Amino acid sequence: MSQARLTSCLPLPLDNKVLVNVIEKAKDWALMHGVGMRDKNHFTKDAIQIAPFVLLPSPFPRTEFAKAIELQPILNELMHKVAHDEEFLESTLQNALQVDEFTAKLYDVWVKVRSEGITQSLCLGLFRSDYLMQQPDRNRIKQVEFNTIASSFGAITSNLPAMFRYVLRQLGHGELIKHMPENRALSGLCSGIIEAYDLFGVPSAVVLFVVEEVSYNICDQRFHEFEISEKRPDIIIYRKTLNEIYDETQLNDKKQLILEGQPVAVVYYRSGYEPAQYPSTKEWDARLRVERSTAIKCPSIQYQLAGTKKVQQALAAPGVLEKFMGGGNSTGRVRDIFTGLYSLDFDDNGERAVEMALADADRFVLKPQREGGGNNLYGGDVRDALLRMRHSRERAAYILMERILPPLVSAYVVRPGAQVPPPLTDVVSELGIFGVIIGSKDKILCNKQVGHMLRTKLAEANEGGVAAGLGALDSPFLLDL
Ligand SMILES: Nc1ncnc2c1ncn2[C@@H]1O[C@H](COP(=O)(O)OP(=O)(O)OP(=O)(O)O)[C@@H](O)[C@H]1O
Ligand SMILES: [Mg+2]
Repeated sequence: MSQARLTSCLPLPLDNKVLVNVIEKAKDWALMHGVGMRDKNHFTKDAIQIAPFVLLPSPFPRTEFAKAIELQPILNELMHKVAHDEEFLESTLQNALQVDEFTAKLYDVWVKVRSEGITQSLCLGLFRSDYLMQQPDRNRIKQVEFNTIASSFGAITSNLPAMFRYVLRQLGHGELIKHMPENRALSGLCSGIIEAYDLFGVPSAVVLFVVEEVSYNICDQRFHEFEISEKRPDIIIYRKTLNEIYDETQLNDKKQLILEGQPVAVVYYRSGYEPAQYPSTKEWDARLRVERSTAIKCPSIQYQLAGTKKVQQALAAPGVLEKFMGGGNSTGRVRDIFTGLYSLDFDDNGERAVEMALADADRFVLKPQREGGGNNLYGGDVRDALLRMRHSRERAAYILMERILPPLVSAYVVRPGAQVPPPLTDVVSELGIFGVIIGSKDKILCNKQVGHMLRTKLAEANEGGVAAGLGALDSPFLLDL
């Protein structure tokens, strides 16, 4: 099917000289406001380079944007309930656990912690629900996935409306600024960490960010630290890898996680979501120690498990949303954002899904229980993988998802080291809405929507991870269609 197009905020192409000039300004704006990343090819802590961004904000239908924002607290609560339903998580994940070692290890941590008795009933979620517009369905949003761990780019993208305001003014189109919503994701996400810190209630306590060995996405992470430090000078933040946590923390007799002599109030994971981040048993031991402790975890292990693709697929099965949400209006609204999601378990339903995908592989995406991008299979690879796994239990580690077909937009993508001016290319945009939730099994203390991000990728690319170098940072330009 050919993909329809949304109109760009300005008639394109731009005049070449104007384009070169405004890109130079935009790059400097980006660099000087932390729209940046560390260079993967020539890593140094002394420099950042621009993060890939689009020169102009991409169009997004206003009503769909508003819908995504309204749904966020509803989705936060849904995922909170799912995470606290032990039976549901167990029955949903059981087949995947047999064949997916990583999810099984996370699950084991959760089982151990529960068997010892939960020391911290509160969880902190800094979530992001991602959407693509489904062009054949009047550009209505469909959920790509729900991220419960290390949901990134809230910080950098909070700066983007200001960058686009500057760019539009330089191009003589300040009148368009009113179509761009403000984005307060950074302050909203940080308010969640601060609120959790205060709920912990120990004045000398510290906050711990769990980070990768090398943080390329340093700006996004550091902005959280700067924001918290500005709002709450009393809160000390440490950045540690899981390996360092193994060496430098202890549990005391009250099960407090002690770092540099102080109890840790909040642990915010910006790492720990993929197998490569646990290269040895030390990292798993560190993870278990953190989960055993009284620190408020963001996310708790059960939030992380609730964020698996398998759970997303199970929620789309008949009657499941009703079980968690009742039969009201909100349930229908959530169901509307789901696209076809199918289990590949080793049973009749799974068999039917395999048949369906083999008959028309281009209509589907095959997803393992992974985060961080680059793990999904598309098109011919779906077919090959299903043919290979058809008679093996291994297939239960995957889910099958209908492929969403978003509308095209024309854009200039500005990348570090790339030719200027860049070609005008066809891109598609993915919206992420950030949510904050704090609560225990029986009580939700905070639940809100706090901001958004848009990332845009070349139309022919399957995935658009910005940190992976495939996507570009963006901000919505709201259209009244
Ligand atoms: N059903 C789909 N239809 C079209 N594109 C999809 C679909 N599912 C995923 N994608 C593309 O693949 C990307 C990665 O998919 P997904 O978000 O499920 O994986 P992930 O590894 O959890 O990524 P992330 O690092 O963003 O959390 C999405 O951002 C989107 O561009
Ligand atoms: Mg994800």
